[in-house]
Amino acid sequence: MRPIIAPSVLASDFANLQSEVEMLNKSQADWLHIDIMDGRFVPNISFGFPVMEAIKRHAKKPMDVHLMIVEPEQYIEQFRTAGADTISVHYEACTHLHRIVQQIQATGAKAGVALNPHTSVKLLEDVIADVDMVCIMSVNPGFGGQKFIENTYRKIEALKDLIIQRSSKALIEIDGGVNEKNAPLLLEKGADVLVAGSFVFSAADPVQTISNLKSIS
Ligand code: DX5
Ligand code: ZN
Repeated sequence: MRPIIAPSVLASDFANLQSEVEMLNKSQADWLHIDIMDGRFVPNISFGFPVMEAIKRHAKKPMDVHLMIVEPEQYIEQFRTAGADTISVHYEACTHLHRIVQQIQATGAKAGVALNPHTSVKLLEDVIADVDMVCIMSVNPGFGGQKFIENTYRKIEALKDLIIQRSSKALIEIDGGVNEKNAPLLLEKGADVLVAGSFVFSAADPVQTISNLKSIS
């Protein structure tokens, strides 16, 4: 099956956001990955609702919103109103993860759970049947352009086993340091969604680069 490709807008040229989104519209990108950072959960601040709404005005594809924020339960409805189709919260930021998953789904959005590199997939055992997606972070969240962590392959295998064991429909998304070199093995291990930021936006031809990622199977 061909992967879902979700370019991360974080790596785009914010001064030309409209043309960057139009480029993604005409590319083979499936989703737009939107990274929200609060300066508390991660040591960086990205952007908030006004920018997200500006992206939404031009985007013709689903928005995959990755919340790297503390207390995400305070903002779920607002992100849905701002145009989120999928909302992922961090396992490490949620005391009541199961409740937040239900809160997200009640808005009509798909619910994802993101795991930091040190967080074991085993911890999802009792929630995996209820989530629509698991985002395995293959870098420490907070910045684009970091080096891919090799242990990710092992985590995909363990997550795939858990998904099968619990008859879950969750998609496996990989976020951080994804490129044309590591993508084939990520897909072979069981990844469904590839997020790519700097690899796409620093390429001479981003549309072609997205198409190359899309044709890996
Ligand atoms: C990292 C973000 C990623 C990031 C990916 O905190 O969650 O989505 O933008 O960027 P690259 O592909 O450059 O690692
Ligand atoms: Zn992300």
